[in-house]
Amino acid sequence: MGTLADKLTGLFADAFESAGYDRSYGEVRVSDRPDLCQFQCNGALAAAKQYRANPRQIAQNVVDSISAPVVFEDLSLAGPGFINIVLQDDFIAAHVQKVHEDERMGCETVATPGRILVDYGGPNVAKPLHVGHLRAAIIGESIVRICRFLGHDVIGDVHLGDWGLQMGLIIEGLRDRQPDLPYFDAGYTGPYPEEPPVTIGDLEELYPQASEREKSDPEFAEAARQATVELQAGRPGYRALWQHFRDVSVDDLRQSYERLNIHFDLWLGESDTQDRLYGLIERLKAEEYARESRGALVVEVDDLDGKESIPPLMLQKTDGAVLYGTTDLATIDQRIEEYRPDYILYVVDNRQQQHFRQVFKASYKTGVAPESTRLEHNGFGTMNGKDGKPFKTREGGIMKLKDLIGLVTDHAMARIETIESVREYDEDEKEQIARIVGVAALKYADLMNHRTKDYVFDLDRFSSFEGRTGPYILYAAVRIKSVLRRAGERGLQPGGIMAPRSESERDLDLKLSELPAVVDLTFETRAPNHLCEYAFQLATAYNRFYHTHHILNEEDADRRASWLALSEVTLRALERVLDLLGIEVPRRM
Ligand code: ARG
Repeated sequence: MGTLADKLTGLFADAFESAGYDRSYGEVRVSDRPDLCQFQCNGALAAAKQYRANPRQIAQNVVDSISAPVVFEDLSLAGPGFINIVLQDDFIAAHVQKVHEDERMGCETVATPGRILVDYGGPNVAKPLHVGHLRAAIIGESIVRICRFLGHDVIGDVHLGDWGLQMGLIIEGLRDRQPDLPYFDAGYTGPYPEEPPVTIGDLEELYPQASEREKSDPEFAEAARQATVELQAGRPGYRALWQHFRDVSVDDLRQSYERLNIHFDLWLGESDTQDRLYGLIERLKAEEYARESRGALVVEVDDLDGKESIPPLMLQKTDGAVLYGTTDLATIDQRIEEYRPDYILYVVDNRQQQHFRQVFKASYKTGVAPESTRLEHNGFGTMNGKDGKPFKTREGGIMKLKDLIGLVTDHAMARIETIESVREYDEDEKEQIARIVGVAALKYADLMNHRTKDYVFDLDRFSSFEGRTGPYILYAAVRIKSVLRRAGERGLQPGGIMAPRSESERDLDLKLSELPAVVDLTFETRAPNHLCEYAFQLATAYNRFYHTHHILNEEDADRRASWLALSEVTLRALERVLDLLGIEVPRRM
């Protein structure tokens, strides 16, 4: 079904054609001057260039050729040849009625679904999940949901960082504490204990300590490097230990992501490329894609046209260790083989832009990825503190995601307890509402800015019940639920949508009709901020409508039923948009 603007574009394309011009000039858009008109068609200006004619004359010819005059309340020419469009209220209402009847509210699925693999989250085993990974998870989850809603076949992969130096560091860190564990005995052949030798609390301590020590203790650093090489080469004790680290970490990660309403289809990681890594390296050597450079093995990826210089992608260090780029290349190899994706989207920090350029270029150059698979880095900016630097705890450390979730939940609890109705709910429900509202505040604030921009973490602002915030939008959704609930209690049913009676009602109708275009735009740009802005506008339009009309007290039964239907479809649209953003809605608050 699409939007009202799509429908009008069809009518205008016909009109351009019957006036003797190309159909493609018929594009109609939502007006950027809503004080003057609802929609506009500016095609006459572009057509004037092709047909070397006066744009105003063309616009007039088009208006004269419009074959569906009943649709329009007003069609007028403005400026050098713009056509301003105002629709008849009946026509608007008929459209909203269709939106109401359609389960997808006018949003179509794509004609040719593709398979899309989304690489997001990217936490590292053993290193605590910190706020730097927050955006990857939040933005990635939304992109996954949008692709899926449009009918694509989507696979989300967390791509754990589990094969790098951090593993060697914690192996050595643990050896220091408990040198007698069997994992360190090179002569021991197993079996190894099933119980992990560490808890998540231990891991969270071990890594920062080891990484601190690496900086000042060259012997320790060398041992960690060596342990990494041996782990990668398959030393059984280290493999067994590594498996424990991974299991303990993943258990903890799952819980954090669960609380954030983030769900991965695949829990693969860098290490899952082990069995193909060395074969791939051999092939690249044999085919002369990889060459030695000062003892290391690299693939040249510099632009052939020489416009900019990109350093080569490093595959193997002198000591034989593989690197971040090697596992990424092998992961692409694996994904292509197993899933044949049309796209692989990487939702990863902007600061890794150069890395992805190297990996993508190397993939295409070596035939790891066919040209038909689109590799795309959907980068994002940093969440900063008020000092403009990446967000830290008050003590200056890195804030763990768990602590951040606790912080936003407590903050939300303090706020919602000021709502009178909430005070009567039992503790369980209050806590659940606080988590949903807190996470919504965080997620909305993160998604609201274009992903490539940095933004400042400001919990007071994020949690406000006014303005562009998660709580404001949740509150609007919950308000509609309450209207519908009270209507239900009085036995009142929604009915057919009637022509709008006021400006606020008309604006709400028009806003509802825009949803499909917003979803498409969000997908095309991989930028959920468009959906955030739409959610805000829709919530605001509903609030205005709600304050001008007393829905439940309306005497005219048809009118009241129409308003209930309008409330219902608004709620569904809001819930749909919030779901695409990965934001939950409480039953009440
Ligand atoms: N683990 C990485 C980090 O913490 C992010 C992984 C992103 N995905 C990828 N395929 N490289 O920086």
